[in-house]
Amino acid sequence: MIPLFFDCDTGIDDSLALLYLLGRETSGPDVTLVGVASTAGNVPVDVVTTNNLAWLELCGRTDIPVHRGAPTPLADDLRTTEDTHGPLGVGYAELPAPTTAAHRLDAADAWIDASRRFPGSLVGLVTGPLTSLATAIRRDPELPGRLGRLVIMGGAFHTHGNTTPVSEWNVSVDPEAAAEVFAAFSAPGTADPIVCALDITESIALTPAHVFALAQAAGSTPAELPAVTDPRGVRSRSDNPVIRYVVDALRFYFEFHHDHDEGYIAHLHDPFAAMVALSPEVVGTIPARVAVELEGTLTRGMTVADERSMWPGGPNARIAVSTDVEVVFAELIAVIGGYARD
Ligand code: BDR
Ligand code: CA
Repeated sequence: MIPLFFDCDTGIDDSLALLYLLGRETSGPDVTLVGVASTAGNVPVDVVTTNNLAWLELCGRTDIPVHRGAPTPLADDLRTTEDTHGPLGVGYAELPAPTTAAHRLDAADAWIDASRRFPGSLVGLVTGPLTSLATAIRRDPELPGRLGRLVIMGGAFHTHGNTTPVSEWNVSVDPEAAAEVFAAFSAPGTADPIVCALDITESIALTPAHVFALAQAAGSTPAELPAVTDPRGVRSRSDNPVIRYVVDALRFYFEFHHDHDEGYIAHLHDPFAAMVALSPEVVGTIPARVAVELEGTLTRGMTVADERSMWPGGPNARIAVSTDVEVVFAELIAVIGGYARD
């Protein structure tokens, strides 16, 4: 059994990651989603929490606790990105308001609690800023040694940033938290986190045709869906609420990317990281020592990787550098589409 703790800033692609995790839990006996942490990022923390509660209730999984994180990063004021993810973080989807509430443990204490319940086997997955995990490590410095595996979506190494020219969103929102997490995993006895940075996640470029395939895997007909060639402005008419919300959420992502000159594509950063968390064999990795620039007036939030052991201390991370994009899409479509169908 793989116990997994998911920390996210839901978020369109975080939503897909959550559905993928639920799908993996349903399709095999080997995965248990033990908790979801809501971290401020794409949208404010209360909106992230509402979204996580809403998705879980929609999927009939109110048994999975949702834990609210801090309203701000460790040092900076919170910046959010509604232009990318929509005013409520889920694009054009209008999720029903949840009837459930966040768990009494906050996100950081939930990390600590999960790591104590599953010492040595807990898989941690972070697809938002690292605020909650860094706070947990401040409260309990032994936490990193209890994780079986940690997968982080964040950073940009040999490619451009998506928030500043050199900084990726999740690291840029809370650079101090990212720096503290990588420093903590430099300690002996900690498993090196697998880092899914923009270098690889931007190769997971979803198209409207993929969404069509996913919706059809869930039983939707073409007539219920926006066109593959130009989905702009068209609402899904699917009777299946999960598919309807997924399609409406992703259309916002498509329109955002289209208006920034990349065409109707959407980078599935977070579902890819979720797949790596449960099936690390889908990526090839290289060892590196990762640090985060905190001082540079032009480079704050840049992730720097020493891949040649120039710095003392040895590797503290494994950077994902290769994958089979076709295999990734086939798996995402099968798992999420199959889950939405059942
Ligand atoms: C990351 O930033 C967020 O907007 C996405 O959800 C993803 O986690 C990509 O840089
Ligand atoms: Ca995210």
